[in-house]
Amino acid sequence: MFFAQIMAGGIGKRMGNTSMPKQFLPLGNKPIIIHTLEKFILNSDFEKIIVSCPKAWIEHTKDTIAKYIDDNRVVIIEGGAERNDTLNKAIEYIEAHYKLTDEDVLLVHDAVRPFVTKRIIDENLEATKKYAAVDTGIPSFDTIVRVNDDLITDIPNRDEMYQGQTPQTFRIKTLKASYEKLTEEEKGTLTDSCKICLLAGEKIYMVQGEASNLKITTPYDLKIANAILEER
Ligand code: CTP
Repeated sequence: MFFAQIMAGGIGKRMGNTSMPKQFLPLGNKPIIIHTLEKFILNSDFEKIIVSCPKAWIEHTKDTIAKYIDDNRVVIIEGGAERNDTLNKAIEYIEAHYKLTDEDVLLVHDAVRPFVTKRIIDENLEATKKYAAVDTGIPSFDTIVRVNDDLITDIPNRDEMYQGQTPQTFRIKTLKASYEKLTEEEKGTLTDSCKICLLAGEKIYMVQGEASNLKITTPYDLKIANAILEER
């Protein structure tokens, strides 16, 4: 079974002083999260579409979604303090409602990447037939350098550098087993869910993303997103 998770558990500090977390801000004529959710509603492969949001915003999320979307596959649950906690809560939800099999897959997507495409979602799901973990990214046009204490320590070969996006997609049982293998220190420092599988020695397939699958992080990104929407 395929499950989707829309990650909306953050508060969007880097967006600055806004009246609500960035995922609820308007993009064109509707909230960012609605644009994102609509891409998933169109996909009949998903058994459930789990929307994870901060506890204090659950009612707001329910009301907002009810205004635009009528699909009983959508469930709204509480997120966690860190992104990985938000992911774990979705897995707990799935385990509480379904008996997990080896084929059960969770596709995780940032609520603030509203321009994800059907191709990207389909290729993520398809790749889980062969790989237990799948990531999405685009080749880096800029040179990426490693910096420590204001000094460059490494300049990796640009041809091998990608910028990570979402979705990230996992066979749920493998992700859980990979997490169990981590040390407590690793569990505390991990910010990327695919890295859980990488550290456990899993092969991770890379789906080609799109430049337009941008993450709205700052007010500047929101301006770009509005420009993309207008152009369409
Ligand atoms: N996210 C989440 N749970 C968290 C933290 C983040 O579900 N505990 C989600 C965000 O809501 C967002 C996505 O992960 O849709 C990408 O994260 P990011 O852009 O870093 O969002 P925020 O954490 O909200 O932003 P900031 O770091 O500026 O506070």
